[in-house]
Amino acid sequence: MQWSYVVVVLCSSLLAGQVGAFLSERRNGGASPLGKEKKVQFASWDEVNVIAHGLLQLGHGLKEHVDKTKGQLREIAGQLGRHNASLGELQQEDRELRGKVEGSHDRLHNLSQELQEAARGRESLERRLQSIEGRIGKALHPPPAEEWGRMQSFIDAQNKRIDELLGQVKLQQYSLDKQNLQIKSLQSKIQDKTQGQAWHAVLKKQSKGISENQSVSTVPTHALSADCHQLFLAGQRSSGVSWVQPARSPPLEVFCDMAADGGWTVIQRRMNGSVDFDQLWEAYRKGIGNLNGEFWLGLEKMFHLAQQRPGLLRIELQDWEGQSRYIEFLFSLGGQDTGYTLYLHGRVSGNLDNAMREVEPLRFSTRDRDQDLKPDINCAKHLSGGWWFSSCGHTNLNGRYFHSIPRQRHERKQGIFWKTWKGRYYPLKATVIKMRTMEPGSDS
Ligand SMILES: *[C@@H]1O[C@H](CO)[C@@H](O)[C@H](O)[C@H]1NC(C)=O
Ligand SMILES: *[C@@H]1O[C@H](CO)[C@@H](O)[C@H](O)[C@H]1NC(C)=O
Ligand SMILES: *[C@@H]1O[C@H](CO)[C@@H](O)[C@H](O)[C@H]1NC(C)=O
Ligand SMILES: *[C@@H]1O[C@H](CO)[C@@H](O)[C@H](O)[C@H]1NC(C)=O
Repeated sequence: MQWSYVVVVLCSSLLAGQVGAFLSERRNGGASPLGKEKKVQFASWDEVNVIAHGLLQLGHGLKEHVDKTKGQLREIAGQLGRHNASLGELQQEDRELRGKVEGSHDRLHNLSQELQEAARGRESLERRLQSIEGRIGKALHPPPAEEWGRMQSFIDAQNKRIDELLGQVKLQQYSLDKQNLQIKSLQSKIQDKTQGQAWHAVLKKQSKGISENQSVSTVPTHALSADCHQLFLAGQRSSGVSWVQPARSPPLEVFCDMAADGGWTVIQRRMNGSVDFDQLWEAYRKGIGNLNGEFWLGLEKMFHLAQQRPGLLRIELQDWEGQSRYIEFLFSLGGQDTGYTLYLHGRVSGNLDNAMREVEPLRFSTRDRDQDLKPDINCAKHLSGGWWFSSCGHTNLNGRYFHSIPRQRHERKQGIFWKTWKGRYYPLKATVIKMRTMEPGSDS
């Protein structure tokens, strides 16, 4: 509104300028085309004054208006500046905020990246751990507890089964042994019958001769073999109980072990602990046990069988692991007047180290007849049974029968042992002692 007003004022002032120019031309009085017109009119001073005054007033108004407008413009500019300033501040704040947001975003981004990196690191760590565990596992084979338990029980079951099988095998072995012995016993009974008949025939013949001739005739010594080896030489090949008759001896029942190299007369056998060997002198002299099981033939019979001349003595031992060893000596045996002295003339063969004294003759000892080489100790009493003891610690095949090593120390000493094979305290499972006379002609 104010601007339109100003324009109106300016137009009117221009109009006033044309009026002024017209007035000055007239005042110079020059010859102009218009001068010929007589009717040219001049403005009066009053009129000019009025116009000038008007113009002056107009100028004053104009100036006033411009001043006022300037003031208004300044005010607007100030307002604008303030606005600009606050806008600047706002923009600044905005920028700062944006910066902060960006920073947060950055941090967030960085954090998430760090997180991802950490996760990757953890993954790779876990993989490495697994591979290390795997390698350790491969190196040590430590199965998981569950599997371990399964394996353990599997092993236990296997062990149990093996034990059962072993037990069954043992039973089988026992029954086999038993059957074998029964067969042998039957065979020996058959032999007994035939030999007994022969013996009876001899006796009959003898008594008949006595009654008929009223004179003493000599019993034919060839009616019975002198020992198992003579039976063997006569053709008998089956082992078992037989009658024999050594020279200057009544007939004897013995167990013959017919081997490939000859007939052995068994003088001792231990196999299952069924017979008590802890006996006195008289029992050892006469004999203990049963020829088909465990037995000690008897010192007097042994003496007769040995015939006071060198023969072979063979000792066979067996441990609980199924191993067997043997040793053979050249030997001779004295009679009761010598205390049944055993003379060992030397080791002939075998895979068993000697635990018997070879240098000195050994008398037989029992608890009630101490004839060992230990002056202050009764070996038979200290250990058990009767034996050709020298010192008390090298062997005793007539000791107590133990199925396992006894807990008591004094019992441990009493077992059947052969120090140079299984040691002093190992109770042997089985023993056999046999003797064999030398063939006639070979002992000269
Ligand atoms: C507004 O501020 C900016 C800087 O913040 C400046 O460049 C500009 O000249 C200012 N304008 C006025 C009208 O003050
Ligand atoms: C983000 O990481 C970059 C480089 O990785 C670094 O220059 C910047 O300063 C980090 N920012 C923050 C907020 O940590
Ligand atoms: C009795 O003895 C004589 C010789 O001394 C002998 O020839 C005879 O056969 C004997 N009689 C009997 C039955 O053996
Ligand atoms: C020992 O073996 C013999 C002969 O085989 C047998 O008769 C006896 O019953 C067995 N004794 C034991 C305790 O096994």
